[in-house]
Amino acid sequence: MKAIAFSFLATVPAALAAWSAADGKSIEYTSVPGFFVQDDEATNPSGFDYSLVNFGLVNRTYSTDKRFDPKGTKSQWERFEYYVNHLNAGCTMKDNTRYKVIFMGRHGEGWHNAAESFYGTPAWNCYWAEQEGNGTAVWADPQLTPAGYHESTKANAYFKDRYATQNMPYFESYYSSPLSRCTVTANETFGDIDVPSDRPFKPIVKEGFREGMTVHTCNWRSNKSTMQETFPFYEFEDGFTEVDQLWHRDESETSDAQNARGKAVLDDVFRTDDKTWLSVTSHSGMISTLLRNLNHRAFRLSTGQIIPVLVKAKLVDPVPDPTFEAYEPYSTCDAPPVTSVAGEGCICSATSTGLPPASTAV
Ligand SMILES: *[C@@H]1O[C@H](CO)[C@@H](O)[C@H](O)[C@H]1NC(C)=O
Ligand SMILES: *[C@@H]1O[C@H](CO)[C@@H](O)[C@H](O)[C@H]1NC(C)=O
Ligand SMILES: *[C@@H]1O[C@H](CO)[C@@H](O)[C@H](O)[C@H]1NC(C)=O
Ligand SMILES: *[C@@H]1O[C@H](CO)[C@@H](O)[C@H](O)[C@H]1NC(C)=O
Repeated sequence: MKAIAFSFLATVPAALAAWSAADGKSIEYTSVPGFFVQDDEATNPSGFDYSLVNFGLVNRTYSTDKRFDPKGTKSQWERFEYYVNHLNAGCTMKDNTRYKVIFMGRHGEGWHNAAESFYGTPAWNCYWAEQEGNGTAVWADPQLTPAGYHESTKANAYFKDRYATQNMPYFESYYSSPLSRCTVTANETFGDIDVPSDRPFKPIVKEGFREGMTVHTCNWRSNKSTMQETFPFYEFEDGFTEVDQLWHRDESETSDAQNARGKAVLDDVFRTDDKTWLSVTSHSGMISTLLRNLNHRAFRLSTGQIIPVLVKAKLVDPVPDPTFEAYEPYSTCDAPPVTSVAGEGCICSATSTGLPPASTAV
């Protein structure tokens, strides 16, 4: 076992701290139940579509309705916004608790998703995902497929409708994974929305929101300067390197490391951003990791899907940083495999060779 320090786990300089009471403390997260149907065990995540149910916002009353909406004319989103502001105002005295509403969106379908369906998961994991493409499609830091663009257009239209008809609050901060499928999805979703000038769409790109770093080339990000050329108005967290130093071609991030990265990026956001309404564009695996860190139930998203969570963050006495292996071998073949077996890895064809199996393979 070795302790690992990632550059993005670095502690925040005091000058940047938006939550100074959190200095020297650990943060404990809960997703507050009862506000979105996604945290209700009765809601089936499979096939769930945010656009049929107002993002899942529960139709209910809040203790602040009497004061804020005595005539009963405000929308559910307006009343929820007021209630969340009240939660935050109510605890500024002690300042050991903060609430944020975090919308986590999975990117639209990328060429790597299409290729996994095309080749089947064993052949994808054991061979094709380690290639950069197949001559027709490119899946090293892939772009969205037409279906992926369609999913982003749908999200764009739904946000516009919610803002226009429901007075849903605009996001105050936007975050994105550095992988193209997310930077593009964020722009397709929000780029042409007429947002208030004090809530501009200027996403901050953070390494912490990228997908679990398997050896798959879809998890290898582009250079920072390339992203800056495409999206000159995007911002990058401090220390964001020009060349990807976290993805390894021959070994994969462990699930312990990914889990710790999820906690670290949430901590970073809560320590540096005092805003309440946040949008995060990320990935299936990473959103699952974030939900786990928020003590939300598992809720797997299909491409283009979005889940909101009301998050309560509470300061607690410092908890020591976990130690873990950061990377581990990953089972692959140097030609399309015969198959793969859960827990054993790839079964390579007789004429090709394989790497030792890894627990996260297949
Ligand atoms: C709340 O009520 C509205 C209007 O009837 C409906 O469109 C929406 O789907 C309901 N929300 C949920 C989460 O069921
Ligand atoms: C390459 O993969 C894509 C799926 O991403 C598939 O549609 C295409 O047919 C494949 N090309 C070849 C030459 O097999
Ligand atoms: C970002 O979105 C804007 C608004 O829709 C669009 O004009 C622009 O071309 C997009 N940028 C890229 C690189 O796709
Ligand atoms: C990123 O930059 C490095 C160093 O300048 C360069 O060698 C590499 O080819 C670039 N990568 C891509 C994907 O363009």
